[in-house]
Amino acid sequence: MKDLFDKIYKDKGPLGKWADHAEGYFIFPKLEGEVSNRMKFKGREVITWSINDYLGLANHPEVRKVDAEAGKKWGSAYPMGARMMSGHTDLHEQLQRELAAFVNKEAAYLLNFGYQGMVSTIDALVSKDDVIVYDVDAHACIIDGVRLHLGQRFTYRHNDMESIEKNLQRATKVAEKTGGGILLISEGVFGMRGEQGKLKEIIALKKKYKFRFFVDDAHGFGTLGKTGAGTGEEQGVQDGIDVYFATFAKAMASTGAFIAADEIIINYLKYNLRSQMFAKSLQMQLVEGALKRLDMIRTMPELKEKLWENTNALQNGLRTRGFDLGTTQTCVTPVYLKGSIPEAMALVKDLRENHGVFCSIVVYPVIPKGLILLRLIPTASHTMQDIEETLNAFSAIRERLESGDYKKLSAAVAKAMQEQE
Ligand SMILES: Cc1ncc(COP(=O)(O)O)c(C=O)c1O
Repeated sequence: MKDLFDKIYKDKGPLGKWADHAEGYFIFPKLEGEVSNRMKFKGREVITWSINDYLGLANHPEVRKVDAEAGKKWGSAYPMGARMMSGHTDLHEQLQRELAAFVNKEAAYLLNFGYQGMVSTIDALVSKDDVIVYDVDAHACIIDGVRLHLGQRFTYRHNDMESIEKNLQRATKVAEKTGGGILLISEGVFGMRGEQGKLKEIIALKKKYKFRFFVDDAHGFGTLGKTGAGTGEEQGVQDGIDVYFATFAKAMASTGAFIAADEIIINYLKYNLRSQMFAKSLQMQLVEGALKRLDMIRTMPELKEKLWENTNALQNGLRTRGFDLGTTQTCVTPVYLKGSIPEAMALVKDLRENHGVFCSIVVYPVIPKGLILLRLIPTASHTMQDIEETLNAFSAIRERLESGDYKKLSAAVAKAMQEQE
């Protein structure tokens, strides 16, 4: 019989296998200094395009003040225990009321982390007779929530209405047999490529099919919609979303998350969300910090305006220079280039070390072979100078990529990687 660890000794997994070439630089890089438009990487100042601090709240002096004062007042332990047992407070309830009002729902419930909160909400909403229909490009937290489901599930082609309808028909047939219902799950904004989910079109299908709609709006909350209430508000269909989710890890620049829905649904989830029933309550510093951030989102529309001014300047500048930004409709700014993984590595090194530009890099298998995706996240704290320098840097790296410079520079890495595969 094999030892359980045998496979681990042999194989570090699909990402881990690149650790020798990538760790500390492309994977697990260490960005230092205060969270802002410019941070330090390996001792050098870099313009930071890889942080979801959309509204620039992470290091805003008013936010830092409230975070520090709350830390001093409560420490990091309070309240102890799960909400259900001993970790419940007036401030948790106040934050829930304010979040619900902001996203135009009857009630909301706090989650300690977005990821486990999503997993757990999916788990609580369905039972084995129900059917889940979800986007094939869904975030890992949706995929993992679906993995807990004991009943049937169908994926549809990414944001494809024909495929959505076909899978709703399939799901309807199954649900009619089992006596269950249907949960359709989409993201508000797909964080890798920046497209909005087709919420309006999906909600229109409610006239033909019976299903409930759950939206993960991690990237839409605070960045889209007239008031910043997210993708549902942006598309004018917030009412058609049955369960709305957002995390505090992006526009709110913190930790934690919430779900919002009709009161009867939230009351059910409150008593059935295993991730909250059996885990410690969100600590007070995070609750007070979230109240402050939400207040700023509500009362300082200039933050979102600045975010979009920067987004438009960056995206228009890239497009004018002939870069391919795919189908983004949001602040998420993907730049697609053609090249191999070793070329991508040489290119990103050049960007970081010679141009002082730090962005995330995505390659196969997340996107098709032969494509390089550089992902930029503009924020309200970026300046026009940051954008100008970045545009010039992108023109320079494209020229080197096309001239074959990076291919030559990365020949040794390419050989080593080939041998490893
Ligand atoms: C679409 C989406 N959903 C959920 C999450 C998880 O949220 P959290 O970081 O709060 O666990 C993320 C990432 O942060 C995300 O991008």
